[in-house]
Amino acid sequence: MYSGGQGINTRPFERSAPGKIILCGEHSVVYGRPAVGVPVSTVRSTAWVASTPSGSGLRIDALDLQQSALLGDADADDPLALCARLVLKSLSAQEPDAVLKVHSDLPIASGMGSGASVAAAAARALSASLGHELAPSAVSRITHEVEKIHHGVPSGIDNTVIAWERPVYFVKDSAPQTFAIHTPFKLIVAYSGIASSTKAAVTAVRRRFEAAEGYYSVLFDCIGAISTAARDAVEQGAIQTLGTLLNENHELLTKMGVSLAQLDELVVAARQAGAMGAKLTGSGQGGNIIALVDEETVAPVRAALEGAGATRIWEATVGSSDA
Ligand code: PMV
Repeated sequence: MYSGGQGINTRPFERSAPGKIILCGEHSVVYGRPAVGVPVSTVRSTAWVASTPSGSGLRIDALDLQQSALLGDADADDPLALCARLVLKSLSAQEPDAVLKVHSDLPIASGMGSGASVAAAAARALSASLGHELAPSAVSRITHEVEKIHHGVPSGIDNTVIAWERPVYFVKDSAPQTFAIHTPFKLIVAYSGIASSTKAAVTAVRRRFEAAEGYYSVLFDCIGAISTAARDAVEQGAIQTLGTLLNENHELLTKMGVSLAQLDELVVAARQAGAMGAKLTGSGQGGNIIALVDEETVAPVRAALEGAGATRIWEATVGSSDA
């Protein structure tokens, strides 16, 4: 199946990338305040490359979307085509005769970074098929460019966490600071069933910020302080404190206007069932919430979230190899 071809090695090239969760700091990160993101390694995107007959060019198959396009025919704003073009440019490589296939277990438009994850996996697989393993910094840079198609002006937290696959304390336009987790902790990620547009949510916050800069600056400062405290809590293994910080962050996001009644209901259901903390994660206006649980509360919180209308639920242990 993966027989040789011009410019392509003879073995299958499969690479993957994780999903991500923003623990604290979404939206305020766009305004220069710190945010904390962690990878979710159990829910991933995968891409692989197989050679095709000489002269056929590069075809990109987005399997989940049932879309297939030749690189030469793809529009400038086709995310996977841009990803492939950036990889070829960075390697000074010719377009290979090959097919690049991409699949993701991450739901689209949910706040788990599906776009960035797919782009990172695709960049890695294409580059590997051309004989070069991309460094995390290169994966992050390419993925950030691709994210601009989806999001306009992304802060860079998604591509950074996904490319480095490490917990990151992130400040826009600064070098990413990865950090260690003292004690692994368990998160439940619950999908509201409502697709959310990061671009729309970020634009809405921008409009409200411009109408009330002083108020929003205070909200952003408070959230920035929560992000710093959350990183410290994670580094010290102060998991109860982390829970309190998640709760406080959610209240501030609500004040910012990016929550929805359905998200608030999920958050309240998780807390009432014993979660140490819960908040929306990502851009809001739909998408996911996260709930911080332990071995005893994971089952009741899961059940409460299902009862409150979550349409999909994942569990992630952050800081252990199965995260
Ligand atoms: O991609 P999402 O939906 O997880 O949200 C990204 C986080 C925002 O802070 C809302 C936007 C950004 O560019 O950081």
